[in-house]
Amino acid sequence: MTQNTPSSGSSWSRQRRIHIHDVAMRDGLQIEPIFVPTEEKIALINALAQTGVSKIEATSFTSPKAIPALRDAEEVMKGIQRVPGVKYVALVPNLRGAQRALECKVDEINLVMSVSETHNLANLRMTREQSARALLQIIDETGDQADVNISLSTAFGCPMEGIVDAEEVLKLGDRFAERGATGITLCDTTGMANPAQVEALCAGLAQRWPGLELTLHFHNTRGMGLANVIAGLSTGIDRYDASLAGLGGCPYAPGATGNICTEDLVHMLESMGMDTGTNLDALVECARQMEKMVGHEVPGQVMKAGAWDKRFPIPPDLDQTRERALLRELEANTAR
Ligand code: COA
Ligand code: ZN
Repeated sequence: MTQNTPSSGSSWSRQRRIHIHDVAMRDGLQIEPIFVPTEEKIALINALAQTGVSKIEATSFTSPKAIPALRDAEEVMKGIQRVPGVKYVALVPNLRGAQRALECKVDEINLVMSVSETHNLANLRMTREQSARALLQIIDETGDQADVNISLSTAFGCPMEGIVDAEEVLKLGDRFAERGATGITLCDTTGMANPAQVEALCAGLAQRWPGLELTLHFHNTRGMGLANVIAGLSTGIDRYDASLAGLGGCPYAPGATGNICTEDLVHMLESMGMDTGTNLDALVECARQMEKMVGHEVPGQVMKAGAWDKRFPIPPDLDQTRERALLRELEANTAR
């Protein structure tokens, strides 16, 4: 799709490489009321690994009481076929989770905590300081066994506390950057961020945390998800979490709904002339499998409408002679 897009010649069309991290198997499934059978999860992860995404967040090593939908994390991680070039990631909230993830040889541990005290207590049953200390210890203990990314939830706002101070986000990120994390993800857990805020928070992050992989994680709860990606791109960030078919949401965040949709994000970026390294048709196929797996309608739009370059047949009852005459008349009027 990248060769012939209507955006050729714009400042966006410079074949910039953007990395897509699919989080549907974790963020998507964690909020679903049904338990998707392990073999189906494995089959979809294997299919997703063929689409060109850079990372797949395959599961989370959380308490099975807290997140029953992902209680088969070990079986999933051990059952998948690893594709070289794809990083297999798992979300981890505490030391016990990190041990389980390392036993399964994940490529990257995605540590999670919230910038908001209230959300951290609701989601992880720990104060922020307890979480931060545990996660810093995990960085030390992991060493070079796996990469360690930190996902800072509610970085753009908390559904209970409201505005989250940008300085708090930066100071918390500093602690992990200084301790040797390989990446930091700023998460808009409940879709509160707006593009102006994203630009303000993210400008300068690459200078503040040099050498770290920076990722943005948006939810489309209020329709601002893809606009926030544009704001993120304008600050130089080139990694985005997204979820097949637009599933997703934190079970401990009131009003949480789907992540930005992977195939809709890819479609937007590729039609703007950027290179995501992925195959849109293969992603749409995976999104359809995901829709079948969860058994309800999903928010993904491109899977319903088709890509922008899809053409529809001219209606057979269109009177071409009459239409042409009208067009000629219109042209003549405009020329006058
Ligand atoms: N994996 C498996 N079991 C775990 C675990 C982990 N990572 N962490 C704790 N447990 C088990 C304990 O062994 C204990 O089991 P028991 O009742 O059989 O003795 C039980 O869970 C309670 O342990 P405790 O340390 O008291 O945890 P908690 O109940 O305070 O819960 C978390 C804390 C972090 C484990 C839990 O809140 C959690 O998993 N949250 C994840 C939330 C999430 O993923 N949200 C969406 C992502 S944003
Ligand atoms: Zn999320």
